[in-house]
Amino acid sequence: MKLFDVYPVNDITIVKAQGSAVWDDKGQEYLDLYGGHAVISIGHTHPHYVQRITDQLNKVGFYSNSIHIPLQRELAEKLGKVSGKEDYQLFLVNSGAEANENALKLASFHNGKKKIIAFKKAFHGRTSLAVAATDNPKIVAPVNETDNVIFLPWEDQEALEIAFQQNAVSSVIIEGIQGVGGINVASAGFLQKIRSLCDEHNAVFIADSVQCGYGRSGQFFSHDHAGVNADIYTMAKGMGNGFPIGGIIISPKFKASYGLLGTTFGGNHLACAAALAVLEVIEQENLIANAEQVGNYLMEELRKLPKIKEVRGKGLMIGIDLPEELAHVKKELLFKHKIFTGEAKPNVIRLLPSLALTKAQADQFLNAIKQELN
Ligand SMILES: Cc1ncc(COP(=O)(O)O)c(C=O)c1O
Repeated sequence: MKLFDVYPVNDITIVKAQGSAVWDDKGQEYLDLYGGHAVISIGHTHPHYVQRITDQLNKVGFYSNSIHIPLQRELAEKLGKVSGKEDYQLFLVNSGAEANENALKLASFHNGKKKIIAFKKAFHGRTSLAVAATDNPKIVAPVNETDNVIFLPWEDQEALEIAFQQNAVSSVIIEGIQGVGGINVASAGFLQKIRSLCDEHNAVFIADSVQCGYGRSGQFFSHDHAGVNADIYTMAKGMGNGFPIGGIIISPKFKASYGLLGTTFGGNHLACAAALAVLEVIEQENLIANAEQVGNYLMEELRKLPKIKEVRGKGLMIGIDLPEELAHVKKELLFKHKIFTGEAKPNVIRLLPSLALTKAQADQFLNAIKQELN
């Protein structure tokens, strides 16, 4: 059998990883500023993480949601404490798309309305509603097309007000910092406007924090920078540091009922052990503060460099917007300097490293990109 060939890949096979370093099958070391797409939050193969998952695997790896799973309560409590959203309720799933799918559905169950407001360049995943709310027609199949999703221009408060006038809006879904869209930071004023319109019109504010959440921005949720609370936060990626787990946290105004949402694998023992280990390390090693410090340092230094069009981001979610003639820099970083970075169209280098990135590792990257820009 062959693989269904949907991923363009670099000709590299990673066989070992530790912290922000990975090694290929020829023994070559790389600096990982991509984290497998913002997934590696506490660093590869962190000893506490490996230990907690191994211990759990030796006890029980999986049982379904038909029995008590105390690890889920432990995780909810810890997540409430670390995120500061202690009165929210946790529903566990397996991926970012599934988190958004459930959030959009729950919003509609809650207020009985159908329209979803999403934004230009948004990416929310590939399941049916999540992809319908994603601004990329190439990945929307005919069966996913719906007129229930309204795409508005980014940061356009007037368009938002007009869209709300018909009072059919069930939810607004927004990434606090757009990832796939090229690292676009939503302003505090825009997020506050969404909050007040949702309150006025009984609509649900969904903060897609799959990529920009879990401490990456220097706050637990990037939407926290605006001083507003969303009704539902969706999360995945950094939550399990590579173990597949996602979740939504739901404000206390939503009432649960048996059967309303469900999943076979969501919240299984192993996934909870992984997610708990991640939160424990984030707390013990002050990784959110580190993301802010090292991120600020990187952005400050990058803004001093010539030829870069713009540096955008917060914390360790950084976009380096390059002119067309420097489109080759990302490849040079990987194959010449042995540094993994992410990308966004057309020419944005995306930095999504572990939140434990050190200043020395940031300097290694800065030296490499300086060479390429000169
Ligand atoms: C903001 C955002 N939401 C949702 C998703 C979908 O997550 P997953 O690939 O885990 O389904 C992604 C993935 O890149 C994302 O960046």
